[in-house]
Formats: sequence, structure tokens, C-alpha cells
Amino acid sequence: MKILAIESSCDDTSVALVDCSAKGFFVIEEKTASQINLHKKYGGVIPEIAGRLHAEKIVPLIEEVLKKGKPDVIAVASGPGLITGLIVGVETARNLSYFFKKPLVSVNHLEGHIHSVEIKSKIVYPALALIVSGGHTELILIKKPGTYKLIGATLDDAAGECFDKVAKMLNLTYPGGPKISAFAQKGNRQAIDLPRPMLNQNNFNFSFSGLKTAALYHLQKNPIKNEKELNDFCASLEESIIEVLTEKTIRAGLKYKTKSIILSGGVSANKYLRETLSRKTKEKLGLNLLVPEFQYCMDNAVMSAIAGYYKAKKKKFTDWKKIKADPTWEIG
Ligand code: KG4
Ligand code: ZN
Repeated sequence: MKILAIESSCDDTSVALVDCSAKGFFVIEEKTASQINLHKKYGGVIPEIAGRLHAEKIVPLIEEVLKKGKPDVIAVASGPGLITGLIVGVETARNLSYFFKKPLVSVNHLEGHIHSVEIKSKIVYPALALIVSGGHTELILIKKPGTYKLIGATLDDAAGECFDKVAKMLNLTYPGGPKISAFAQKGNRQAIDLPRPMLNQNNFNFSFSGLKTAALYHLQKNPIKNEKELNDFCASLEESIIEVLTEKTIRAGLKYKTKSIILSGGVSANKYLRETLSRKTKEKLGLNLLVPEFQYCMDNAVMSAIAGYYKAKKKKFTDWKKIKADPTWEIG
């Protein structure tokens, strides 16, 4: 089944044609236009600009991708995300479905992130997914493909948002996560004692806004004077975020006795998180952590094609007249 998928929920316009079967997933073509450079000067993604840029890029990208083959199914990530971007993807998919007379599947962006690991690995069920991005920090239990139970989520800021907002305090450009992580690699992770929010609570929820405030107070009292202090501050912040994410994920894995642990979403590109969670998953659960290849950590249409495949196999199609963008669509 060849699936043409579209992703436009945030600041990447991505289109992919993926050959999907029970044997695995083969990316025939993938084209992505990142908007990061245009949003950088505002310190974050501006929805109005994002929408216009998606509208400008989407048709040329589809044209490029369709040179490599014809789709059997059209898939689109129709939520959650920014309405200005989602609407461009959904309206384009609606038109393609009508024009090519091909069935349409509406996929959840987070479901896409979960399935991003399947480009190289196989998920064994029941599985547990930690999705960490700029907008989400969620622990999701997946009994089988398509059956999701949200067992924990952030009560305020997402982990990626905490990285980005603290990076802004340090005058680092958006997205700040990768920059903090680069300084952290050279720093002492025990240098500054920052809080571990909700670590000792007996649930799987997270909270990062208090940590962000603690970081702000620390910086106000102790302005950074040299590179060593910057490295130590970033390392201590990263340690705090990653300790909470890792500990809660392992506890959930032990409680629910899952057969796979998945790490995905933009923050899964963080090397220290990949290494720490991977080591603990092996030690405490005897499992190999499933993570997407670096290029599939950030938003992309390949992951939407894979999520779309499982729905298409079950014939869970959406009528082109009825599909809608849903910026607050939650799974589980
Ligand atoms: O999934 P994604 O591409 O977009 C959303 O759906 O939000 O995630 C983007 C987020 C940003 O907050 C960015 O700072 C964070 O992922 N990120 C990282 C790293 N690479 C990307 N955070 C920490 N360390 C990284 N290496
Ligand atoms: Zn995302």
C-alpha cells in the first residue's frame, strides 16, 4: 500500500510517499521544508507566519514527491497542533483525495510520533511510549496498534518548551533544546541543585513550569559570567529534566509490564536522554529502547504515513467531505 502523507502541524511542511506492508516500511520519497529560520527572529513559532509558509510550500513538495509514484491512500496529520498549519494540510489532503479518487485517513500527530520508531524497528505490544516535544510530554500505554491509554501528561509546560524557554533566558535562538544540550555535554551535571518536579509523586504526570521558574531565579541571582558556568548550568538543567522523564518512564514500564519502551517526539533527538533511558530500560526492564533515527525525531510525514497504514488496513477512512483539522485532538 503506497501512502502519500502530509504533515503541517507546526513549523515543518513535510510530504512523503511510503510503501507500507506487514513486512515493514520503505520510504520512496520524502520532502520537508523547515520554517525554523523564519521563526527564529521572533523567538518561537508564529502561527500566522507558519500557516502562510505551509500554504506556499505544500503543493511544490507534493509535486516533487509524486514524481516517484502514485499513492493508493492519502494520509494527513489533522491534529493536535497549530490550526493555521493543520488547516493547510487537511484542505490539501481533502483536495488530493477527491482529485485522485483515493481514500483518506486522518491521523493523530502523536500517533505518528509513536510509529516513527517503526522505520527501523518493530514494536512488540503491549508498549509504552514517552512522547516528548515542544507541545507534549506524555506517557501512553498501547495495548495494540490503535488502542491508546494516556497514563501521564504534563500539567503545565512540555519538556521541550522548558528547554526552549530557559534557552531564551540565556539569549539562545529558537529552538533552544539542541543548543542547551550541546553546552550540557561539556558541563558538570551536579553543579547546580535544581528541582526534580513531581519525581516523588506516585503518578505518571509531569510539570516543568516550576523548574523553568527555578532556573530563572537562579540566573537572576547568579548571572552567567563565562563558558564554564554556562556549560554547568545547561548540564544541571538537562540532568533535572532527563532524570524525571527517565525515572517516571521506567516506573510505568515496571507497573504495566510492557514489552516495548518507545521514546519519540522532538526531544528524543536529545543524546543524553536517548543514552540514559536506553541504559535504564536495559538494566531495569531487560528491553532495548526503541527510538526513531535522528532525522525522524522532528516532525515529518513518514511517521504519519505509518500511522495511516494501520488505520487504512482496518479501513478506517474519513470521507473527504467530512475531514476536519482538530488542534486539540488527544489520543487515549
Ligand atoms: O516534535 P517537534 O519537532 O515539534 C513539536 O511537535 O513540538 O519537537 C520540537 C521540540 C523543541 O522544543 C526543541 O527544542 C526540542 O524538540 N528538541 C530538543 C532537542 N532537539 C529538539 N530538546 C532537547 N535536546 C535536543 N537535542
Ligand atoms: Zn511533533
